[in-house]
Amino acid sequence: MRMYDCIEKKKQGKALTTEEIRFMVKGFTDGVIPDYQMSAMLMAICFRGMDRRETVDLTLAMRDSGSVLDLSSIPGIKVDKHSTGGVGDKTSLVLTPIVAALGVPVAKMSGRGLGHTGGTIDKLECFPGFTTELSREKFMQNVTEIGVAIAGQTANLAPADKKLYALRDVTATVDEMSLIASSIMSKKLASGSDAIVLDVKTGNGAFMKKYEDSVALAKAMVSIGNLAGKRTAAVITDMDQPLGFAVGNSIEVIEAIDTLKGKGPKDLTEVVFALGAQMLQLAGKADGREEAEALMQSVIDDGSALEKLAQLVQAQGGDTSYVYDTSLFPGAAFTKEVRAETAGYVHRILAREVGSACMLLGGGRETKESSIDTSVGILLKKKNGDEVRQSDTLAVIYGNDADKTEQAARQVARAYEISAEKKECPPVVRAYISE
Ligand code: URA
Repeated sequence: MRMYDCIEKKKQGKALTTEEIRFMVKGFTDGVIPDYQMSAMLMAICFRGMDRRETVDLTLAMRDSGSVLDLSSIPGIKVDKHSTGGVGDKTSLVLTPIVAALGVPVAKMSGRGLGHTGGTIDKLECFPGFTTELSREKFMQNVTEIGVAIAGQTANLAPADKKLYALRDVTATVDEMSLIASSIMSKKLASGSDAIVLDVKTGNGAFMKKYEDSVALAKAMVSIGNLAGKRTAAVITDMDQPLGFAVGNSIEVIEAIDTLKGKGPKDLTEVVFALGAQMLQLAGKADGREEAEALMQSVIDDGSALEKLAQLVQAQGGDTSYVYDTSLFPGAAFTKEVRAETAGYVHRILAREVGSACMLLGGGRETKESSIDTSVGILLKKKNGDEVRQSDTLAVIYGNDADKTEQAARQVARAYEISAEKKECPPVVRAYISE
């Protein structure tokens, strides 16, 4: 078999066989197939696409390029959740303790933020001492004993995806549906949970800006998961504005803690309940959305969800006093209010612009190696549909550098689209996708 022939075949729009896909993934992971040939293949896939069978084959070949975690010794249906990435998305910090407090084991692999999107690991590391570098044994032990563990992805988890993703990033081949679906699902399948709930974002701050594309991506991933023997469901949620009010690391953790106390923003709470209801149903804990939501509300009301977050923080080396007293999180040196220049209604808040303003403040990273400032961020005061009067505060910027704080304020001002008329805003939870 020759990579040249595989590239030629895909260039002509023909489907690759299972053997050809395995050959290509193994050869590339082992360094036998060079980057230039794989780049040509990726571009051919971008133009010609892959059918459902090819996408499943690619996912499984990438899953099997490294080790696959075996969680079968932990009793119960283990659930995982994945978001396609957004701005202000602190859902995992709220959702995992709620679901775990209801007795459903959560074995979660998370990533760091990159570019304009934030990452769960960076947020959890706001608790001094918190680590997501858990050995396989410690990860399993925590899920068994307290019902929840959140780990970073180890190097040996779907290494083919890691290498391919780096190449896609520099060859303008990231945004092809079958490549995204196989990339995400290979990692989820390798992390060993029995059930997977996917939060597929849609809107200006999401990978998939068009609703139809988000639905197609969700359907592709749900079908791959189910074909691979995992109970999989997806929820399409809005990213036409940041989720919640807080964008930044510490301030998002504080908002997540407020939500665990039942005092969170409406949109964030809605997304948490939608995803949590799917997790509980896939785990066989609830029969329908209504029952699942009542269960979730009960662990918020009786404080056990917040208590579960404290257990998670403690089990992973973090200082739990921050869970109970959020004023301990260090604040930033400068604040700057962003004021409305015109009156009207907030029509849209460009999430990507807000995310990159946070990055400019030092709250996000340009490369995987950059360090971040957890105390900076942006607190939105007005969201889609809100009425604003001239000079009302739209947002507050928290920075540690005076110039950057000013620059971020100008960027956030540009992110707000104000219209004279109140326009219809899309619902936060757009659709449920299951097989
Ligand atoms: N996230 C991933 O892990 N892979 C993609 O291709 C896109 C988003």
